[in-house]
Amino acid sequence: MVVEERIHTRSGDESIVTIDCLRSHHIKELMEIETVSFGAPWSERAYRNEMNNRSAIYLVALSADGAVLGYAGAWVVMDEAHITTIAIRPDMRGRKMGKALLVALLDAAATKGSKRATLEVRPSNTVALEIYRKFGFYPVGRRKAYYTDNREDALIMWLDGYDVESYVREAEVVRALFRWCDDAADTLKL
Ligand SMILES: CC(C)(COP(=O)(O)OP(=O)(O)OC[C@H]1O[C@@H](n2cnc3c(N)ncnc32)[C@H](O)[C@@H]1OP(=O)(O)O)[C@@H](O)C(=O)NCCC(=O)NCCS
Repeated sequence: MVVEERIHTRSGDESIVTIDCLRSHHIKELMEIETVSFGAPWSERAYRNEMNNRSAIYLVALSADGAVLGYAGAWVVMDEAHITTIAIRPDMRGRKMGKALLVALLDAAATKGSKRATLEVRPSNTVALEIYRKFGFYPVGRRKAYYTDNREDALIMWLDGYDVESYVREAEVVRALFRWCDDAADTLKL
């Protein structure tokens, strides 16, 4: 199921962004965002493998003309969502799209049984830390020299018992009947 999220931009105007499952034809544009967003980017092969991972959820935010504006992913293991990635195209950052994708991702994970969530983040990534803090993630420890590009530690963060509805209110994004894609099995070519 394709769902529309209404994103309110900082300038006060409004643009319609569709959130959909990651599909093969999105990968090329996703990789362009990946390589400019991360010091240790994942490969295209890694994302293609993820599309065959039954435990994985990958979502993309699409513009009205179908351009990939951002993406986010998680593995759902038992009642835990392990958030693997989130990135917004640099020219589209700061328009609440990251929050909208995180809401959609946690919502999709909840439909697969997730009640808690965890992730790793660089201590130097102040924007990401701020967004996670707003969602209620808290630090529980560090993985030493986790990042291969500069050997920076990773902060391990957890979020317990999350409530998607409260994010919809507080993150100021409109939840528009998000359901995990009904056609996921077809999409993922299982
Ligand atoms: C982290 C990222 C996904 C956030 O996406 P975004 O769409 O720019 O973020 P949003 O507009 O939804 O903002 C979410 C919150 O982040 C904070 N934030 C956003 N831009 C910020 C900035 N330039 N400075 C400080 N805080 C900022 C604000 O607290 C904001 O909440 P608010 O809208 O209530 O003020 C995006 O910056 C990105 O792609 N970064 C590169 C990849 C990355 O680091 N991913 C995270 C890996 S752990």
